[in-house]
Amino acid sequence: MKIFIDSANLAEIKEAVSWGIIEGATTNPTLMAKEKNQSLKKISQEICRIVPGPVSLEGNASQAEEIIKEAKILAKIANNVVVKIPMTIEGIKAVIKLNKEGIKTNVTLVFSANQALIAAKAKATYVSPFLGRLDDIGQSGLLLIEEIKKIYKNYQFNTKIIAASIRNPDHVKQVALIGCDIATIPFKVLKQLYQHSLTDKGIALFQADWNKLKI
Ligand code: E4P
Repeated sequence: MKIFIDSANLAEIKEAVSWGIIEGATTNPTLMAKEKNQSLKKISQEICRIVPGPVSLEGNASQAEEIIKEAKILAKIANNVVVKIPMTIEGIKAVIKLNKEGIKTNVTLVFSANQALIAAKAKATYVSPFLGRLDDIGQSGLLLIEEIKKIYKNYQFNTKIIAASIRNPDHVKQVALIGCDIATIPFKVLKQLYQHSLTDKGIALFQADWNKLKI
C-alpha cells in the first residue's frame, strides 16, 4: 500500500517527506484554507516540488466545461499534478474528457460503491472514498473500501483506490489488511504509525543498561 500525506502545510509535508516513506500527497480546499496569507498557486507549486509522487489539487468549478478548463490550468502547475474532481454527473463528464487528454484525475467525495463504480467506468486515475466522514454518520468506511476493492477486482478496473478521511492508525492498519492501493494520511496520524509505548520503554531500558556497560 502506498502512503500519501493528506496536508497542504509545507512544514508538515517537508518533514514527512524527509522520513522517506511518502509517495504522494492529497489536498483539498479546506486544507488549503488553513494555510493563511499564502497564494494557492505558490503552495501548490511548492507541494508538487517537494513531494516525490502524484499531488492531488482541487478547484471549485461545478460544470463539466468549467471543470475541464480549471483542470487544464491546475495540470500546468507541475508534471505530478492530479486533478481532484467531485463525484457528480458534471464531474464525471469532465473526468471522461480529461482522461482522453491524458490529464490524471482523482474522483473525490465518494461515499458509496456505486459512485466508485461510475468513477472507474469513467477511467478516473484514482477514487477517494472518505472513511472518517462515513464513520461520523454511523456507517462503515472500511466496509465501503472492501466493496470497492471487490468490484474493481471483478472487472479489472485500473482506477486506484485512495483511502481518504483517515482519522487514526487503526484505519491505516485496516485498509492495509483489505489491500487498498493507497492511504492518504494526515501528519498527526502518520507520526502515530511510528510510535508504540513499549518501543519508548524498551529504548529507555536499553539506554539505561548501555550506560552500565564498560566499553
Ligand atoms: C483527501 O483526499 C480528503 O480530502 C481528506 O482525506 C478529507 O479528510 P477529512 O474528512 O478529515 O476532512
